[in-house]
Amino acid sequence: MRRVRYYEYGGPEVLTAEDVDQPVPQAGQVLLRAEAIGVNFVDTRFRSGPGSGSIFHRPLPGRPTGDVVGTVTRVGPGVEPQLVGRRVAALAEDAYADYVVAEALWLAAVPDHLDAGDASMLAMSAPVALRILRAAQLNPGDTVLIHAAAGGIGHLAVQFAKFLGAGTVIGTARSSSKLDFVRAVGADVAIDYAQPDWPDQVRAAAPGGVDIVLDAVGGTILQSSLDLLAPFGRAVVYGAATGELEQIPVVKLFALRSVTGFNLTAWRHASPDQARHEMDEIADLFAAGRLRTTVHAGLPLTQAATAHELIETRSHTGRILLLPDARST
Ligand SMILES: NC(=O)c1ccc[n+]([C@@H]2O[C@H](COP(=O)([O-])OP(=O)(O)OC[C@H]3O[C@@H](n4cnc5c(N)ncnc54)[C@H](OP(=O)(O)O)[C@@H]3O)[C@@H](O)[C@H]2O)c1
Repeated sequence: MRRVRYYEYGGPEVLTAEDVDQPVPQAGQVLLRAEAIGVNFVDTRFRSGPGSGSIFHRPLPGRPTGDVVGTVTRVGPGVEPQLVGRRVAALAEDAYADYVVAEALWLAAVPDHLDAGDASMLAMSAPVALRILRAAQLNPGDTVLIHAAAGGIGHLAVQFAKFLGAGTVIGTARSSSKLDFVRAVGADVAIDYAQPDWPDQVRAAAPGGVDIVLDAVGGTILQSSLDLLAPFGRAVVYGAATGELEQIPVVKLFALRSVTGFNLTAWRHASPDQARHEMDEIADLFAAGRLRTTVHAGLPLTQAATAHELIETRSHTGRILLLPDARST
């Protein structure tokens, strides 16, 4: 089978396709024949190496993670054999491959007829998008500011915010085509946060301040966002695409503001039953057509470098997929 890893840090060109034996699932694991692999931003940073920022360190050889959609072909010891033949989704390591090992405990069942784009969101991106809004304790009518709203998680967070009853939803992104996309997925206001006056544009749209900020950009974007919070406003920080880890001045919180962190692994450990319940809840929403994923590009497995280039040049809207059955051109 084919697998893509990297053996040195660097640009997308370090991603190396190789022929290897199928991996063998160990206790608690399953083997999936991959139909689609959702490519995530964080792996472009891991691949670039420690220079991307201290939160982005992964040892070599690099085994990219990904949101795999596939069919179970084998189970490891202690796993129900009835899983064989089921179409599932999973966040897995060594994911850019024809066959991928995943933890049985965190498989998401894929509803019938769900396409690969929607299915690729079930295990990780959609659970994060939903949970960050719940971590923010969204109340009906709240004004929500969502940064990087054209991205994989961002475009789902916009839809979840509306679905959960938010009032005004403000999405930020860079470039006019992304702003059009952010409006198309349901944001009331779309603002280019590459413009220096973006905080003033948010103030114009939400004169009383915003109730919720969702941020995985960090740096000055996070700092300025804290100043935009209304009294009792909540910011949820779930990443730092800039690699800039901010010190949050406590004085900024005196105006009745709070900041919460979120990480999916921590959430799964802390509240496994609720985390699993939310995966089922999300699958039902997709199956009912109440959420939709926009697939920016579906690429052959051997074009993983192109997938990383699209993400690094910040040119994608929504999801990028690797499709093992697609032929290279
Ligand atoms: N906490 C968790 O459990 C968890 C899980 C998964 C992902 N995450 C984080 O969630 C965020 C979104 O993940 P995703 O996979 O859906 O990515 P994505 O949003 O599809 O891509 C990242 C986006 O970040 C924006 N960005 C802002 N500053 C950037 C910079 N300096 N360099 C590059 N991009 C920058 C870009 O949008 P613009 O061009 O519009 O600015 C880019 O499209 C990431 O920060 C990721 O690390 C957290």
